[in-house]
Amino acid sequence: MASHEPVLLEEVLYFLDPLPGKVIIDATIGAGGHAEEILKRLQPGGKLIGIDRDSESLRIAHERLKFFENSFMLVSKNFRFIKDIIIELGIGEVDGILFDMGISSIQMETGERGFSIKNIGPLDMRMDRNQSLTAKELVNKLSESELSGLIKSCGEERFHKRIARNIVFARKRKEIATTQELTEVVCRSLPHGLKRQRIHPATRTFQALRIRVNDELGGIEEALRQSPDILKKNGRMCVISFHSLEDRIAKNSLKDFKAKGIFKVLTKKPVTAKEEELSRNPRSRSAKLRAAEKLI
Ligand SMILES: C[S@@+](CC[C@H](N)C(=O)[O-])C[C@H]1O[C@@H](n2cnc3c(N)ncnc32)[C@H](O)[C@@H]1O
Repeated sequence: MASHEPVLLEEVLYFLDPLPGKVIIDATIGAGGHAEEILKRLQPGGKLIGIDRDSESLRIAHERLKFFENSFMLVSKNFRFIKDIIIELGIGEVDGILFDMGISSIQMETGERGFSIKNIGPLDMRMDRNQSLTAKELVNKLSESELSGLIKSCGEERFHKRIARNIVFARKRKEIATTQELTEVVCRSLPHGLKRQRIHPATRTFQALRIRVNDELGGIEEALRQSPDILKKNGRMCVISFHSLEDRIAKNSLKDFKAKGIFKVLTKKPVTAKEEELSRNPRSRSAKLRAAEKLI
C-alpha cells in the first residue's frame, strides 16, 4: 500500500496554529497525515473533525489516529456541505479549517481506483464509490464537442479537439474501459515532440475527467463560500491547491472576503514547498498554500 506524506506540513501548522483546547476541521482528511500532527498539538482538550467523501480514506485515517480516541470525529461526506455537517454535529464555530484539495497518493497509486496513468485500472475516478457517474461513462457517452470542451476547460489541454476526435473514433470500434486504453488514445493524439515533457502527455486529460466525475470545482467554491460562517473571530483557514483551476478559486474567494472586510489574507503570494520537501516528496511540486484569518 502506498503511503501519503502530507504536503507543506510545517507551513500548515504555522498558519493554522493548532493549540490545546482548539477545534479544527480537516475537510480533506485523506490518510490523516496533517490530522495526526494537528491532533498532537490540540492535546489536551482539543478536537478535530475530519471529513472525506472516500470511505477507504476514512478507514485509513481512523487506523492512523486511533491513539487520539475521543479527540476526533470522522464524517463520510462531501465537504461542499461543510456548514450543515458542523451544525448537525452540534458544533458552534471552529478555530481553524484545512482544505488539502484533490486526491491522495493512496487514491492515485491504487490502480483499481482508475486515477492513475501508470497503474492500469478501470476508468473509474470516483472519490465516493457510492456515486454512479464514472470516467468510463463520460469517455464513452459524451459527444465529441462535450469531450473537447471538458478537456479544454478542466484540463487546460491545448490539443483537446484532437483528443476528443480520437476518443470518439476509438470507441466506435470498442468501448474504452481502462486507464491504459485511454492513455493510448491520448498519446496517439499529441504531436510527437510533446511526448517527452515533464508531465505525462495524458495528465491533463485525466485531470479533466477526474474534476468532472467528482464535480470538484463546484464543491470547492461552495465550501469556501460557507467557511466564514463556521469560523470564530481570529479563526484561520488554509487552502492547499494542486492546479491552477483550484488555486484560482481559492485566490478569488479570499480576495472577495478581504474586500468585504471578513478576512485578512496571511499569504501575499501562495506558499510553495521548500527545496528540501521538493526533493523528498514529488507531490509537493505543484502545491500552493493560501491562508487567511477571520477578522469579525
Ligand atoms: C490530498 S488528499 C488529503 C491528504 C491529507 N491531508 C493527508 O495528509 O493525508 C485529499 C482528500 O480529500 C478528499 N476529498 C476531495 N474532495 C473532497 C470533497 N469535495 N469532499 C470530501 N472529501 C474530499 C479525497 O477523497 C482525498 O482523500
